[in-house]
Amino acid sequence: MPSKIVARRSEIHGNGVFAKEPIHKGERVVQYKGKLKTHAEVDAGDTGDVDSGHTFLFTLNDEYVIDANERGNVARWINHSCKPNCEAVLDEDEGGDPRKDRVFIEAIRDIEPGEELSYNYGITLAEKHTKELKQVWACLCGAKNCTGTMLQPKKDKKKKKKGGKKRKKKA
Ligand SMILES: C[S@@+](CC[C@H](N)C(=O)[O-])C[C@H]1O[C@@H](n2cnc3c(N)ncnc32)[C@H](O)[C@@H]1O
Ligand SMILES: [Zn+2]
Repeated sequence: MPSKIVARRSEIHGNGVFAKEPIHKGERVVQYKGKLKTHAEVDAGDTGDVDSGHTFLFTLNDEYVIDANERGNVARWINHSCKPNCEAVLDEDEGGDPRKDRVFIEAIRDIEPGEELSYNYGITLAEKHTKELKQVWACLCGAKNCTGTMLQPKKDKKKKKKGGKKRKKKA
């Protein structure tokens, strides 16, 4: 199926992803692809996310992280928003193989052509969310309800959705 989305410069940050055609509520828009790495591999690597506030990593499950720096697709350009029109959903492998879990970006409302796609990254860091870290991870989504940071309150644990889907957090 031809893609309904395209990556181009965004007013939020760097590149973003925009609808080329109407996208309907509930539609599965794109899979978040990248190289599968263990958490230990990511921790030992040099992505420097916590310090820079820039990440192409997506926490897949307790074992693996999707690193879209390598083998990433257009989904890696989707920005975070405090008033998103999409959400990240985890499709767990029926056989229980954590390597085969997948993440999809789905529309949570109808999206018009030209609108930028976004989802709440749901980022919580292992360390305390200090004022400084919230600033490093500053949010520029421009929504009325923008919290000013992409970091989420730590009490926001993973929520289970009806039908076995899970909202996913990014990193
Ligand atoms: C997966 S990338 C998204 C693509 C990014 N715009 C780019 O050009 O590289 C995620 C990074 O984009 C930036 N970003 C995404 N949403 C943002 C937002 N609402 N406000 C500020 N920066 C954002 C942050 O640096 C974040 O770590
Ligand atoms: Zn925001």
